Amino acid sequence: MGLEPGLALRIYFPTQSLNTRFMLTISLRSIVWLLWIKLMEIIKTDRLVKDYDLGKIKVRALDGVDIVIESGEFVAIMGPSGSGKSTLMHIIGCLDSPSEGEYYLDGLLVSQMERRKLAAVRNAKIGFVFQSFNLLPHLNVLKNVELPLMYAGMGSKERNRQARNILDSVGLSDRLRHKPSELSGGQRQRVAIARAIVNSPSILLADEPTGNLDSTSGGDILEIFGQLHRQGNTVIIVTHDPNVAERADRIIQIYDGKISDGDILG
Ligand SMILES: Nc1ncnc2c1ncn2[C@@H]1O[C@H](COP(=O)(O)OP(=O)(O)OP(=O)(O)O)[C@@H](O)[C@H]1O
Ligand SMILES: [Mg+2]
Repeated sequence: MGLEPGLALRIYFPTQSLNTRFMLTISLRSIVWLLWIKLMEIIKTDRLVKDYDLGKIKVRALDGVDIVIESGEFVAIMGPSGSGKSTLMHIIGCLDSPSEGEYYLDGLLVSQMERRKLAAVRNAKIGFVFQSFNLLPHLNVLKNVELPLMYAGMGSKERNRQARNILDSVGLSDRLRHKPSELSGGQRQRVAIARAIVNSPSILLADEPTGNLDSTSGGDILEIFGQLHRQGNTVIIVTHDPNVAERADRIIQIYDGKISDGDILG
């Protein structure tokens, strides 16, 4: 915004009365302010519902979820087992679509998007660390991390270089040829993180990333997330651990598929 709004109006409307100019300045400032707020909302959901249909029974995993997450925030999502955390993360991560409601990602309505388009949006913007790692067992560490770059159409030499760099940054450069089954839980989790961040997504989602780790490995992994947050990325972590949640800017609590009112701690 190079030009101060008042000055801009004096140039464009030199004959207007002081009062009119004042009103126009106020309106212009409000519009700029509203646009800025909108631009900052990287994730916005409106009455999200997710039903799983199991023939005779229907499970309502999400029941009217409204959340807004701003660009660059570090948010922890907490709640009991079965409360809908992974379901919500899968929808936010464009891996699944809601049964009802709307989801805007970076201003784009993605809730009704067809699968191929949704996958393209996901590949461009989101890194996802799954609750159960989801590494491909027959591929070694390097090949697992190269996968998202391959989907993005990058040539083999460049993706090899980028995957090595990122594995180096998570301390795994000496395990490139190992298969996931030949690694410890903490190492597997670091491979999953390397794969999630290798194509520099602006949003990192992690579902219980430290759930099965000892405190040292868990601390290392939190340090990686902290670093990504300091670099300006949006980080959203599901956790049961209050010590992990404490590191976040904000905690969102979910119970029975609903965001618990008053539990969004600033
Ligand atoms: N594919 C599915 N089919 C049917 N029901 C499902 C499916 N996935 C999840 N559910 C149900 O939806 C509800 C929410 O599940 P979800 O996995 O989101 O919970 P969660 O909060 O992540 O739990 P946890 O902390 O144990 O990982 C649960 O009642 C679960 O049984
Ligand atoms: Mg879960």
